[in-house]
Amino acid sequence: MKLARDPHTWSKPNDARVTHLEWNAKVDFATKVISATATYNIENLTDTSAILFDTKGLSISRVEVDGKPVQQHLGEEKEFLGQPLSIPIDSTSKKVAITYTTSPAAEALLWVDGEKPFLFTQSQAILARTWIPCQDSPGVRFTYNATVEVPKNLLALMSAENPQQKNESGIYSFKMEQPIPSYLMALAVGDVEFRSVGKQTGVYAIPTLIDAAAKEFEDMQLMVEAAEKLYGPYVWGRYDLLILPPAFPFGGMENPRLTFATPTIIAGDKSLVALVAHELAHSWSGNLVTNSTWDDFWLNEGFTVYFEQRIMEAVFGRERSEMLAQLSRQDLDATIVELTASHPADTKLKLALEGRSPDDGMTDIAYNKGYFFIRLIEEIVGREKFDVFLKNYFTSHQFQVMDTETFLDYLRKNLVDAETEKKIDIDAWVYGEGIPTNAPVVNSDALARVDEAVKQWSVGNLKTSELKWNDWQYQEQYRFLTNIPESVPLNKLDELDAAFHINESGNSEVLFAWLEQSILKKRTASYARLEKFLVEVGRRKFVAPLFEAMKKTEQLDLAKRIYEKARPGYHSVTTGTVDEMLGWSR
Ligand code: BES
Ligand code: ZN
Repeated sequence: MKLARDPHTWSKPNDARVTHLEWNAKVDFATKVISATATYNIENLTDTSAILFDTKGLSISRVEVDGKPVQQHLGEEKEFLGQPLSIPIDSTSKKVAITYTTSPAAEALLWVDGEKPFLFTQSQAILARTWIPCQDSPGVRFTYNATVEVPKNLLALMSAENPQQKNESGIYSFKMEQPIPSYLMALAVGDVEFRSVGKQTGVYAIPTLIDAAAKEFEDMQLMVEAAEKLYGPYVWGRYDLLILPPAFPFGGMENPRLTFATPTIIAGDKSLVALVAHELAHSWSGNLVTNSTWDDFWLNEGFTVYFEQRIMEAVFGRERSEMLAQLSRQDLDATIVELTASHPADTKLKLALEGRSPDDGMTDIAYNKGYFFIRLIEEIVGREKFDVFLKNYFTSHQFQVMDTETFLDYLRKNLVDAETEKKIDIDAWVYGEGIPTNAPVVNSDALARVDEAVKQWSVGNLKTSELKWNDWQYQEQYRFLTNIPESVPLNKLDELDAAFHINESGNSEVLFAWLEQSILKKRTASYARLEKFLVEVGRRKFVAPLFEAMKKTEQLDLAKRIYEKARPGYHSVTTGTVDEMLGWSR
């Protein structure tokens, strides 16, 4: 199949492309280096004289084509993209083998020191090339096998068929039989244990977290079954969850067969499991039908937020999913305000990221404007028809790429006539800025009650002791904290903490919202907790807004002091954002 031009790869997959990878690697914690040979099966489609790969920071020592050494060429480095690796081939070439080492600064990798060290990768969007030479474009799919040698006291896991326990040799084998794009390549190495929670589901975590994790995510099998009912069979075999160290820069990453997740979703009461529903949903939207380029990122994330909420509704009920939808709307409104001021074109669903980092497009627009667009179509055509459409869409396009225009064509042919299209106003949603006025209205009585409570409490009509805080779910507490008006004085935060001990909340979302308010109101009594949180947790969604709040309120000294201490533990995804924000250069 002919692939669209992708400005974020050096490779030319329409000329010559990979179909399968054999990856042989050794992981060395002492030097923070992976030494590996990547052997690809290739197809020369146009009788071209070279095949191109993306690389970033790799040292390449040897390249062979069909067993014979050849002279490779590394091209000039370009910002974000790295260097093209060009390997001479002819029309009969079948295999290329690249022997290389990664740089200790490889951006996908985080090496966590400690008595039991940990290594994990984060490849999306274009960081796979920092640990494997690859055609790093979402349209290029390949199957893979891997053999990985790690220190004997650690277990290795990949986005593939995985071991469930350590062995004597420290050598592990992996197999991914379904073709996947490079951004879904993943590796983790650590002292982790496995616990089954269902017939095809389980969790991996360090020994001190495994019990809590197994309890927290005991509903995973129900989620898989609910998802299959909606979108058709789960084609990947097992669905497991790996709990990573708190430095993991995201909430979750949908690595096939093995979602990577932050430990900050273990709240003790299952309140944050929507994240698992989200990553599971990517098993269809994203992993099965994949955005063609990062300009179509909303096709991955917008559908996934929609599916996430459908799974949550099916397993936990509509009241809970509507709270999530309301918080999606809150985040979306804030993002629209921000981007309209800085880069209004980024509020369109269809992006134009050429010449920029794909990270620039990974905003709430793709997630939540995407979500409301899909939900609008559902509401206009009716859920029954929409569900049939979705199931067919995923089945008929599985293991293929999708771009915005092809999706809209398919939508017009199979679901939406001219009159309906007018009602939806497709063009305004996809190619226009901001949120169209026909956005679906969310109905969460619970959050509406909270909104009323914040209002009355702020003006003194409701006493702190009269708040139903301890009966509230996390979404309600979060809604309250994120909507406290600027005019509310510091002593009212003290009252809240005295009554409900929010500074010690075990729910990371609530704690985050509390710390952000504390910064905005300069509640120094929260700063020890703030520092501890930021040194421990590297999740960008929490870290970036907290530093932003310090910057905004002219507490830069505090920000820099904490950042200096926390930064060595963060992944490049997080330091990339915060370095720029704080003008960090050291
Ligand atoms: N695929 C994303 C994470 C991602 C996006 C990594 C872009 C790199 C570039 C993942 O599915 C995701 O969206 N995670 C969210 C959680 C979700 C519940 C919104 C996160 O990490 O916060
Ligand atoms: Zn996602």
